[in-house]
Amino acid sequence: MTWGFGKVILLGEHAVVYGHPAVAGSLARRVQCHGETSDAGLRLRVPAWDLDVSVDDDHPVAAALAAIADACPGPRPSITLVAKTDLPAGAGLGSSAALSVAIARALTYAMDIDDARLEQIAAAGERCFHENPSGVDVALATRGGLGLYRRGHGFTPIRSAPVSLVIGLSGQPRRTADMVSRVASQRDKNPTATNDHLTHLGDAAAAAVAWLESGDNARLGVAMTDAHEHLAALGVSTALLDELVADAVGAGALGAKLTGGGGGGAVIALAPHREADVLQAWHRRGIEAFTCLCGVTP
Ligand code: PMV
Repeated sequence: MTWGFGKVILLGEHAVVYGHPAVAGSLARRVQCHGETSDAGLRLRVPAWDLDVSVDDDHPVAAALAAIADACPGPRPSITLVAKTDLPAGAGLGSSAALSVAIARALTYAMDIDDARLEQIAAAGERCFHENPSGVDVALATRGGLGLYRRGHGFTPIRSAPVSLVIGLSGQPRRTADMVSRVASQRDKNPTATNDHLTHLGDAAAAAVAWLESGDNARLGVAMTDAHEHLAALGVSTALLDELVADAVGAGALGAKLTGGGGGGAVIALAPHREADVLQAWHRRGIEAFTCLCGVTP
């Protein structure tokens, strides 16, 4: 069975697009993949996402499968890959990178391939889902852990125990690319205020390395809620995401924020000893929510 982890961005989303750092961690939820012999060419089934594609289908997942297979040494194998997962798709939790990494591992199973090469192969698939991925999702799906990511500098692991998070799924569909262009147009219109928000978000991510290493959850939590306010000021929150953050803080979380592109997707809360209260508050709203460790390694 091969695998790829999901991920969350703890701090620094959107700022990372402009060269500021972001802190992200792998989730203890993943995609796992195994191969079954087939005489029908290369196929992929993901029952949890209602997905069954052949490599030549006109479908974004088929395009990713083809791109990964073509980035591997040798000809495309005739095999059916079956993936099982407890990661929700399209919620900003890195499901496409986790799938790409699990596929890349399966197709290179008997080959002597290191993590850096595996990331390159999986990135070929990830590019079919996201026009211009920064690479953080694939790095975390492959290696796991917590780390500071900076465009052009890559991923620096943080020496920290995994952090327990409560994750809520807003159910609001969103496209990260739309949110990235929303911030870009706000920056064109109002460069000083927008750059101030982005700098603040990146500075919090840089400071979070020490908080994670020393287990300073109180500071991390305050920075998360503060980051949510800056992200809202950048126009990437929604009324529901704001309510979910307020619910979590009201239920005793040290901090909460949207994670990833925003405009919907997921909300994370840091709530040691109060996780059941946050879950209850979100469930009361009819929101799907679960606790999950962030920063797990293989
Ligand atoms: O929505 P996600 O999890 O793919 O995260 C996007 C993070 C952004 O900073 C908004 C965009 C990016 O490419 O880094």
